[in-house]
Amino acid sequence: MTYLVNALGHVQINVTDMAPVVREATELLGLHVTRSDTQQTWLACSGRTAELVFHRAEANAVRSVGFEALTVRAVEEAARRVPEAGCRVLSEKPSLDCCAAGVVFATPQGHTFEIHTPIPDRIYDRRHFGAGVDAIRMDHVNITSPEPAETQRQVERIMGLKLSEKMVDDGLIWMRGGNRQHHIMGIVRGQTGLHHYSFELENFGQYCRLGDLLDRFEKQLAWGPGRHRPGDNIYAYYVDAAGAMVECSSGMALVADDENYQPNIITTLKRPENVRVLNVWGTPAPQPWLAHHFPYAPVA
Ligand SMILES: [Fe+2]
Repeated sequence: MTYLVNALGHVQINVTDMAPVVREATELLGLHVTRSDTQQTWLACSGRTAELVFHRAEANAVRSVGFEALTVRAVEEAARRVPEAGCRVLSEKPSLDCCAAGVVFATPQGHTFEIHTPIPDRIYDRRHFGAGVDAIRMDHVNITSPEPAETQRQVERIMGLKLSEKMVDDGLIWMRGGNRQHHIMGIVRGQTGLHHYSFELENFGQYCRLGDLLDRFEKQLAWGPGRHRPGDNIYAYYVDAAGAMVECSSGMALVADDENYQPNIITTLKRPENVRVLNVWGTPAPQPWLAHHFPYAPVA
């Protein structure tokens, strides 16, 4: 099966209090506001029209996660596969008016996903030097699912994502798309939600800056910095003002030899034996990071 989805497209989050999350996204992460009205704020770190969209709402929750397909035909093909995979189409229109096509669907586990054509991008407008860590692109998401193997089957069937790596008990599953990043979506066993969304930082000095800026916000890193084994990326995490976890990541491995790549199955699941299996360096994951849960909004 070939990839229908190329990359993570965007993330939409419901928030009860707009100002603090926008302040952190701009002053900490270095995003800029591309559009705002009384109900929504669109943000991006690059020349793209939107990467992160906050909606004013009654409860803090992830609203939807969008994945980018390269063509209208790919979106149409994905839409055709949604019911075949046991999921339900919510809309055959893109949720963002800047996209040419999109399909929004819900899974039986309660995730709302969208597959949409690329968000417009001014490619010579990539750098927006701000007060934050100058994130350079949106990287990946980890979602939580009570049935991770079932979620894996859905995204394989509908989006054509491929397995890069997983724990033998399906506790964590890493899926890649057409851009060949080791993962654009991680699936973590847990109550339906979003474990974290991730932006890429350009250099390691920005991780020092991240820690210093969090201190200004009277906050601390939730974990990191360190280097994950799965994906081989540098990481550091913090929890945003709405309660969603943000990962700053750098230099994720690419699966260049896609045809011959054999997914890695992690069989060492217990500490201390698995510490170096999961991380090249850095401290083992702290309990609050492991237990973090940010809910999905009820399916519309
Ligand atoms: Fe991650």
